[in-house]
Amino acid sequence: MSTATLDKHEPQDAPASATAADLITVTFRIRRFNPEVAADASWEDFRFEIDPKERVLDALHKIKWELDGTLTFRRSCAHGICGSDAMRINGRNRLACKTLIKDMNPEKPITVEPIKGLAVLKDLVVDMEPFFQAYRDIMPFLVTKGNEPTRERLQSAEDRERFDDTTKCILCAACTSSCPVFWNDGQYFGPQAIVGAHRFIFDSRDEGGEQRLEILNSKEGVWRCRTTFNCTEACPRGIEITKAIQEVKRALITRRF
Ligand code: SF4
Ligand code: FES
Repeated sequence: MSTATLDKHEPQDAPASATAADLITVTFRIRRFNPEVAADASWEDFRFEIDPKERVLDALHKIKWELDGTLTFRRSCAHGICGSDAMRINGRNRLACKTLIKDMNPEKPITVEPIKGLAVLKDLVVDMEPFFQAYRDIMPFLVTKGNEPTRERLQSAEDRERFDDTTKCILCAACTSSCPVFWNDGQYFGPQAIVGAHRFIFDSRDEGGEQRLEILNSKEGVWRCRTTFNCTEACPRGIEITKAIQEVKRALITRRF
């Protein structure tokens, strides 16, 4: 394990209101992997001062911009919308941009690892393709039988409410990559794909529900779920994923949705 320090760090990146007295010294223990350098991943420590009210994403930026420019991770919006910075922080899937350092027990090293169950490409970046393929497979778009309305497709507020929760998904993969079934069987569609299917199956304007249910009735579909609730606990959007999965299972049995 190697250690990089920035003990003389000036707090230029801290919020304007932060003073030197606000800063604490934190160790970030990051899982590093560069297939061009070594075959195996290893831990690397970075120790520096930072305002604990900052987010883990800010700490990763500090490391990348001031200590080690080779550190590789994904992020885009930095505000919990794009879903690109899901990672395992202190052993739990979270969005780095929504995780405050002060909430991570900063007296101890804060561990940061890539999400599990997907191949690591470099450092915290995983290959998301199997995840997105499962999403594509459940047809995440409105399916109709061609009866085009002359105006918009109307829907009651009550019908809209039926699938409101699953519209909140930002495709971060925190759920799927926290699922032990997915870890052991990369073929399982995973919780996100079922959430994505739920969003359309229960949409009164959609006519592709039967098709999606058949896809999820397959060997690698919804019946693989063991109701561990890991997905629901991991979701940064607070989606009741296990409930959505149960509703899809019920729809498969009753064919009512
Ligand atoms: S259901 Fe939640 S955890 Fe899963 S991909 Fe969507 S937002 Fe992320
Ligand atoms: S960077 Fe977009 S959700 Fe975190």
